[in-house]
Amino acid sequence: MTAKPKVWVARPLFPDVLARLAEYFDVQAEAVEHKHTAAELREKLAHVDGALLGLSDRIDAEVLEGNHRLKVVANLGVGYNNLDLDAISKAGVLACNTPDVLTESVADYAWALMLAAARRVGAAERWLRAGHWAGSRMRFDDWLGVDVHGRTLGILGMGRIGQAIARRACGFDMRVIYHNRSRLPETVERECRATLVSKPELLRQADHLVLVLPFTAANRHAIGAEELAQMKSSAVLVNIARGGIVDDAALAVALRDGKLAAAGLDVFEGEPAVHPDLLGLDNVVLSPHIASASEDTRRSMARMAADNVIAALGYGEAAGKPLTPLNPAVMSHWATRKA
Ligand code: 8YV
Repeated sequence: MTAKPKVWVARPLFPDVLARLAEYFDVQAEAVEHKHTAAELREKLAHVDGALLGLSDRIDAEVLEGNHRLKVVANLGVGYNNLDLDAISKAGVLACNTPDVLTESVADYAWALMLAAARRVGAAERWLRAGHWAGSRMRFDDWLGVDVHGRTLGILGMGRIGQAIARRACGFDMRVIYHNRSRLPETVERECRATLVSKPELLRQADHLVLVLPFTAANRHAIGAEELAQMKSSAVLVNIARGGIVDDAALAVALRDGKLAAAGLDVFEGEPAVHPDLLGLDNVVLSPHIASASEDTRRSMARMAADNVIAALGYGEAAGKPLTPLNPAVMSHWATRKA
Protein backbone atom coordinates (compact mmCIF):
# COMPACT_ATOMS: atom_id res chain seq x y z
CA MET A 1 0.00 0.00 0.00
CA THR A 2 1.46 3.37 -0.97
CA ALA A 3 1.55 6.04 1.73
CA LYS A 4 -0.95 8.87 1.43
CA PRO A 5 0.45 12.26 0.37
CA LYS A 6 1.10 14.61 3.28
CA VAL A 7 -0.68 17.92 3.75
CA TRP A 8 0.08 20.57 6.36
CA VAL A 9 -2.66 22.90 7.57
CA ALA A 10 -0.96 25.96 9.02
CA ARG A 11 -3.98 27.30 10.94
CA PRO A 12 -6.65 25.61 13.04
CA LEU A 13 -9.52 24.84 10.67
CA PHE A 14 -13.10 23.56 10.70
CA PRO A 15 -13.12 19.83 11.67
CA ASP A 16 -15.27 18.85 8.68
CA VAL A 17 -12.77 20.42 6.30
CA LEU A 18 -9.90 18.61 8.01
CA ALA A 19 -11.91 15.39 7.76
CA ARG A 20 -12.38 15.96 4.03
CA LEU A 21 -8.64 16.41 3.60
CA ALA A 22 -8.01 13.29 5.68
CA GLU A 23 -10.00 11.20 3.17
CA TYR A 24 -7.07 11.61 0.80
CA PHE A 25 -4.09 12.74 2.82
CA ASP A 26 -2.03 12.25 5.90
CA VAL A 27 -2.98 15.60 7.48
CA GLN A 28 -0.90 17.52 9.98
CA ALA A 29 -3.04 20.37 11.26
CA GLU A 30 -1.94 23.09 13.63
CA ALA A 31 -4.14 23.23 16.72
CA VAL A 32 -3.27 26.79 17.72
CA GLU A 33 -2.73 30.03 15.80
CA HIS A 34 0.93 30.84 15.40
CA LYS A 35 2.91 33.18 13.16
CA HIS A 36 5.46 30.86 11.59
CA THR A 37 9.00 32.01 11.04
CA ALA A 38 10.72 31.41 7.71
CA ALA A 39 12.71 28.59 9.32
CA GLU A 40 9.54 26.94 10.62
CA LEU A 41 7.84 27.21 7.25
CA ARG A 42 10.88 25.80 5.51
CA GLU A 43 10.97 22.83 7.85
CA LYS A 44 7.20 22.16 7.69
CA LEU A 45 6.99 22.47 3.92
CA ALA A 46 10.03 20.27 3.29
CA HIS A 47 8.08 17.18 4.35
CA VAL A 48 4.68 17.68 2.72
CA ASP A 49 3.10 17.61 -0.72
CA GLY A 50 0.61 20.37 -0.08
CA ALA A 51 -0.25 23.04 2.46
CA LEU A 52 -3.12 25.31 3.45
CA LEU A 53 -1.70 28.63 4.58
CA GLY A 54 -2.72 31.72 6.48
CA LEU A 55 -1.93 35.22 5.31
CA SER A 56 0.92 35.61 7.78
CA ASP A 57 2.74 32.63 6.28
CA ARG A 58 5.22 34.26 3.92
CA ILE A 59 6.39 31.92 1.17
CA ASP A 60 9.43 32.99 -0.81
CA ALA A 61 12.60 31.62 -2.39
CA GLU A 62 14.33 31.24 0.97
CA VAL A 63 11.48 29.15 2.38
CA LEU A 64 11.32 26.95 -0.73
CA GLU A 65 15.04 26.52 -1.34
CA GLY A 66 15.91 22.85 -1.83
CA ASN A 67 12.27 21.77 -1.52
CA HIS A 68 11.62 19.20 -4.25
CA ARG A 69 8.53 17.70 -2.69
CA LEU A 70 5.96 20.46 -2.24
CA LYS A 71 3.46 20.76 -5.08
CA VAL A 72 0.74 23.11 -3.91
CA VAL A 73 0.13 25.90 -1.41
CA ALA A 74 -3.45 27.09 -0.92
CA ASN A 75 -3.93 30.46 0.71
CA LEU A 76 -6.89 30.86 3.06
CA GLY A 77 -7.78 34.21 1.53
CA VAL A 78 -8.23 36.02 -1.74
CA GLY A 79 -5.25 38.34 -1.20
CA TYR A 80 -1.87 36.71 -1.65
CA ASN A 81 0.72 39.34 -0.88
CA ASN A 82 2.27 36.76 1.48
CA LEU A 83 3.15 34.65 -1.56
CA ASP A 84 6.12 35.49 -3.75
CA LEU A 85 4.51 34.09 -6.89
CA ASP A 86 7.67 34.31 -8.98
CA ALA A 87 9.67 32.32 -6.46
CA ILE A 88 6.84 29.85 -5.98
CA SER A 89 6.50 29.32 -9.74
CA LYS A 90 10.27 28.93 -10.10
CA ALA A 91 10.12 26.21 -7.46
CA GLY A 92 7.43 24.45 -9.54
CA VAL A 93 4.81 24.91 -6.84
CA LEU A 94 1.18 25.71 -7.59
CA ALA A 95 -0.37 28.53 -5.57
CA CYS A 96 -4.12 28.98 -5.10
CA ASN A 97 -6.32 31.56 -3.37
CA THR A 98 -10.01 31.84 -2.45
CA PRO A 99 -11.63 34.46 -4.69
CA ASP A 100 -15.38 35.00 -5.17
CA VAL A 101 -16.66 33.09 -2.14
CA LEU A 102 -15.88 36.03 0.13
CA THR A 103 -16.84 38.91 -2.17
CA GLU A 104 -20.31 39.61 -0.78
CA SER A 105 -19.38 39.18 2.90
CA VAL A 106 -16.41 41.50 2.57
CA ALA A 107 -18.61 44.05 0.77
CA ASP A 108 -21.16 43.81 3.61
CA TYR A 109 -18.38 44.45 6.09
CA ALA A 110 -17.07 47.49 4.22
CA TRP A 111 -20.54 48.94 4.63
CA ALA A 112 -20.64 47.97 8.29
CA LEU A 113 -17.41 49.89 8.91
CA MET A 114 -18.51 52.84 6.78
CA LEU A 115 -21.80 53.20 8.61
CA ALA A 116 -20.29 52.60 12.03
CA ALA A 117 -17.52 55.14 11.48
CA ALA A 118 -19.82 57.75 9.92
CA ARG A 119 -22.43 57.48 12.66
CA ARG A 120 -19.94 57.02 15.51
CA VAL A 121 -21.37 53.68 16.61
CA GLY A 122 -18.22 52.45 18.37
CA ALA A 123 -17.61 55.59 20.40
CA ALA A 124 -21.28 55.94 21.33
CA GLU A 125 -21.43 52.37 22.53
CA ARG A 126 -18.27 52.80 24.62
CA TRP A 127 -19.79 55.95 26.15
CA LEU A 128 -23.04 54.20 26.97
CA ARG A 129 -21.34 51.12 28.44
CA ALA A 130 -19.21 53.37 30.61
CA GLY A 131 -22.43 54.61 32.21
CA HIS A 132 -22.18 58.19 30.91
CA TRP A 133 -25.70 58.29 29.47
CA ALA A 134 -27.35 57.44 32.77
CA GLY A 135 -25.32 60.08 34.56
CA SER A 136 -25.90 62.98 32.14
CA ARG A 137 -28.53 64.75 30.12
CA MET A 138 -27.54 64.14 26.54
CA ARG A 139 -27.65 67.26 24.40
CA PHE A 140 -29.66 67.43 21.18
CA ASP A 141 -26.49 68.29 19.31
CA ASP A 142 -24.37 65.51 20.83
CA TRP A 143 -23.14 62.57 18.80
CA LEU A 144 -23.61 64.22 15.43
CA GLY A 145 -22.21 62.06 12.66
CA VAL A 146 -21.87 62.19 8.91
CA ASP A 147 -24.71 61.04 6.66
CA VAL A 148 -24.13 58.17 4.29
CA HIS A 149 -27.29 58.27 2.17
CA GLY A 150 -27.27 60.69 -0.71
CA ARG A 151 -23.50 61.27 -0.47
CA THR A 152 -20.67 60.40 -2.83
CA LEU A 153 -19.06 57.00 -2.39
CA GLY A 154 -15.51 56.69 -3.69
CA ILE A 155 -13.95 53.30 -4.29
CA LEU A 156 -10.23 52.88 -4.84
CA GLY A 157 -9.69 49.50 -6.52
CA MET A 158 -12.69 48.29 -8.48
CA GLY A 159 -12.31 44.52 -8.65
CA ARG A 160 -14.98 42.05 -7.62
CA ILE A 161 -15.25 43.35 -4.05
CA GLY A 162 -15.22 47.00 -5.10
CA GLN A 163 -18.05 46.30 -7.51
CA ALA A 164 -20.07 44.49 -4.83
CA ILE A 165 -19.64 47.51 -2.54
CA ALA A 166 -20.76 49.82 -5.36
CA ARG A 167 -23.88 47.75 -6.10
CA ARG A 168 -25.03 48.20 -2.50
CA ALA A 169 -24.80 52.00 -2.81
CA CYS A 170 -28.00 52.08 -4.83
CA GLY A 171 -30.04 51.44 -1.69
CA PHE A 172 -28.44 54.48 -0.07
CA ASP A 173 -29.09 56.67 -3.08
CA MET A 174 -25.39 57.46 -3.40
CA ARG A 175 -23.35 58.69 -6.32
CA VAL A 176 -20.50 56.25 -6.94
CA ILE A 177 -17.10 57.19 -8.32
CA TYR A 178 -14.12 54.90 -8.62
CA HIS A 179 -10.48 54.82 -9.53
CA ASN A 180 -8.86 51.69 -10.89
CA ARG A 181 -5.88 50.64 -13.00
CA SER A 182 -8.24 50.12 -15.91
CA ARG A 183 -11.73 51.23 -16.76
CA LEU A 184 -14.50 48.70 -16.18
CA PRO A 185 -16.57 47.57 -19.16
CA GLU A 186 -19.51 49.90 -19.70
CA THR A 187 -22.04 47.22 -18.79
CA VAL A 188 -20.35 46.76 -15.40
CA GLU A 189 -20.13 50.52 -14.85
CA ARG A 190 -23.85 50.77 -15.56
CA GLU A 191 -24.67 47.90 -13.24
CA CYS A 192 -22.59 49.51 -10.48
CA ARG A 193 -23.77 53.02 -11.42
CA ALA A 194 -20.13 53.97 -11.06
CA THR A 195 -18.06 56.58 -12.88
CA LEU A 196 -14.29 56.39 -13.38
CA VAL A 197 -12.36 59.41 -12.09
CA SER A 198 -8.69 60.20 -11.55
CA LYS A 199 -7.22 59.45 -8.14
CA PRO A 200 -7.00 63.16 -7.20
CA GLU A 201 -10.67 63.59 -8.17
CA LEU A 202 -11.62 60.55 -6.14
CA LEU A 203 -9.84 61.96 -3.11
CA ARG A 204 -11.37 65.40 -3.57
CA GLN A 205 -14.95 64.33 -4.21
CA ALA A 206 -15.54 61.27 -2.01
CA ASP A 207 -17.59 61.72 1.16
CA HIS A 208 -16.87 58.10 1.95
CA LEU A 209 -13.75 56.49 0.51
CA VAL A 210 -13.36 52.71 0.59
CA LEU A 211 -10.02 51.09 -0.21
CA VAL A 212 -10.20 47.71 -1.90
CA LEU A 213 -6.95 47.49 -3.83
CA PRO A 214 -4.46 44.64 -3.56
CA PHE A 215 -1.25 45.25 -1.63
CA THR A 216 1.77 45.62 -3.90
CA ALA A 217 5.01 47.52 -3.45
CA ALA A 218 3.53 50.27 -5.65
CA ASN A 219 0.42 50.52 -3.46
CA ARG A 220 2.32 50.94 -0.20
CA HIS A 221 1.05 54.14 1.40
CA ALA A 222 -1.28 54.78 -1.55
CA ILE A 223 -3.07 56.85 1.08
CA GLY A 224 -0.50 58.90 2.96
CA ALA A 225 -0.33 62.42 4.35
CA GLU A 226 -0.41 63.97 0.88
CA GLU A 227 -3.52 62.05 -0.19
CA LEU A 228 -5.30 62.60 3.13
CA ALA A 229 -4.72 66.34 2.74
CA GLN A 230 -6.68 66.25 -0.53
CA MET A 231 -9.75 64.69 1.10
CA LYS A 232 -12.70 66.58 2.57
CA SER A 233 -12.38 67.17 6.29
CA SER A 234 -15.91 65.72 6.59
CA ALA A 235 -14.92 62.51 4.79
CA VAL A 236 -14.84 58.97 6.14
CA LEU A 237 -12.10 56.52 5.10
CA VAL A 238 -12.54 52.74 5.17
CA ASN A 239 -9.69 50.26 4.71
CA ILE A 240 -10.68 46.62 4.23
CA ALA A 241 -7.85 45.89 1.80
CA ARG A 242 -4.46 45.45 3.42
CA GLY A 243 -2.41 47.11 6.09
CA GLY A 244 0.31 49.24 4.56
CA ILE A 245 -1.93 50.66 1.84
CA VAL A 246 -2.65 53.44 4.32
CA ASP A 247 0.08 55.25 6.21
CA ASP A 248 -1.51 54.60 9.61
CA ALA A 249 0.65 57.19 11.40
CA ALA A 250 -0.40 59.90 8.93
CA LEU A 251 -4.03 58.78 9.21
CA ALA A 252 -3.92 59.09 12.99
CA VAL A 253 -2.62 62.66 12.65
CA ALA A 254 -5.38 63.57 10.16
CA LEU A 255 -8.08 62.08 12.42
CA ARG A 256 -6.67 63.78 15.50
CA ASP A 257 -6.40 67.17 13.81
CA GLY A 258 -9.93 67.07 12.34
CA LYS A 259 -8.61 66.83 8.77
CA LEU A 260 -10.76 63.74 8.31
CA ALA A 261 -14.05 63.04 10.12
CA ALA A 262 -13.66 59.35 10.79
CA ALA A 263 -12.19 56.05 9.66
CA GLY A 264 -13.11 52.38 9.74
CA LEU A 265 -10.14 50.03 9.63
CA ASP A 266 -10.07 46.25 9.42
CA VAL A 267 -6.41 45.97 8.43
CA PHE A 268 -3.24 47.57 9.77
CA GLU A 269 0.38 48.10 8.94
CA GLY A 270 2.26 45.44 10.91
CA GLU A 271 -0.94 43.78 12.22
CA PRO A 272 -1.74 42.34 14.68
CA ALA A 273 -0.02 45.42 16.10
CA VAL A 274 -2.12 48.56 15.71
CA HIS A 275 -0.56 52.02 15.65
CA PRO A 276 -0.88 53.31 19.23
CA ASP A 277 -2.07 56.71 18.03
CA LEU A 278 -5.08 55.06 16.37
CA LEU A 279 -5.92 53.18 19.56
CA GLY A 280 -6.22 56.48 21.39
CA LEU A 281 -8.74 58.03 18.98
CA ASP A 282 -12.51 57.90 19.28
CA ASN A 283 -13.27 58.72 15.65
CA VAL A 284 -11.92 55.48 14.28
CA VAL A 285 -13.62 52.08 14.31
CA LEU A 286 -11.06 49.27 14.56
CA SER A 287 -11.54 45.57 13.90
CA PRO A 288 -9.10 42.64 13.75
CA HIS A 289 -9.09 41.71 10.03
CA ILE A 290 -12.50 40.05 10.04
CA ALA A 291 -14.14 41.36 6.87
CA SER A 292 -14.57 37.84 5.48
CA ALA A 293 -15.51 36.32 8.82
CA SER A 294 -19.11 35.27 8.43
CA GLU A 295 -19.86 31.67 9.32
CA ASP A 296 -20.79 30.71 5.76
CA THR A 297 -17.97 32.56 4.08
CA ARG A 298 -15.13 31.33 6.28
CA ARG A 299 -16.41 27.78 5.80
CA SER A 300 -16.56 28.30 2.03
CA MET A 301 -13.03 29.70 2.02
CA ALA A 302 -11.69 26.74 3.98
CA ARG A 303 -13.51 24.28 1.72
CA MET A 304 -12.21 26.03 -1.38
CA ALA A 305 -8.61 25.95 -0.14
CA ALA A 306 -8.99 22.24 0.71
CA ASP A 307 -10.58 21.47 -2.67
CA ASN A 308 -7.73 23.25 -4.42
CA VAL A 309 -5.18 21.04 -2.66
CA ILE A 310 -7.22 17.88 -3.27
CA ALA A 311 -7.55 18.66 -6.99
CA ALA A 312 -3.95 19.83 -7.40
CA LEU A 313 -2.64 16.60 -5.89
CA GLY A 314 -4.80 14.61 -8.30
CA TYR A 315 -7.75 13.55 -6.14
CA GLY A 316 -11.50 14.15 -5.99
CA GLU A 317 -13.95 15.01 -8.75
CA ALA A 318 -11.79 17.86 -10.05
CA ALA A 319 -8.54 15.85 -10.02
CA GLY A 320 -5.82 17.76 -11.84
CA LYS A 321 -8.02 20.84 -12.22
CA PRO A 322 -7.84 23.05 -9.13
CA LEU A 323 -10.54 25.68 -9.23
CA THR A 324 -8.61 28.86 -8.49
CA PRO A 325 -4.94 28.49 -9.36
CA LEU A 326 -2.76 31.61 -9.44
CA ASN A 327 0.05 30.14 -11.54
CA PRO A 328 -1.51 27.20 -13.42
CA ALA A 329 1.35 27.02 -15.92
CA VAL A 330 3.56 25.27 -13.35
CA MET A 331 1.33 22.19 -13.50
CA SER A 332 2.39 21.43 -17.05
CA HIS A 333 5.95 20.81 -15.79
CA TRP A 334 5.04 18.51 -12.93
CA ALA A 335 5.39 15.30 -14.91
CA THR A 336 9.06 16.04 -15.43
CA ARG A 337 9.94 18.11 -12.30
CA LYS A 338 8.23 16.28 -9.47
CA ALA A 339 8.24 12.71 -8.34
C1 8YV B 1 -8.47 36.83 5.30
C2 8YV B 1 -8.39 38.46 3.56
O1 8YV B 1 -8.25 35.76 4.48
O2 8YV B 1 -9.08 37.06 1.82
C3 8YV B 1 -8.30 37.92 2.19
O3 8YV B 1 -7.41 38.37 1.46
O4 8YV B 1 -7.74 39.37 3.90
C4 8YV B 1 -9.30 37.81 4.54
O5 8YV B 1 -10.38 37.19 3.98
C5 8YV B 1 -9.07 36.34 6.51
O6 8YV B 1 -9.29 37.41 7.31
C6 8YV B 1 -8.19 35.31 7.20
O7 8YV B 1 -7.03 35.88 7.71
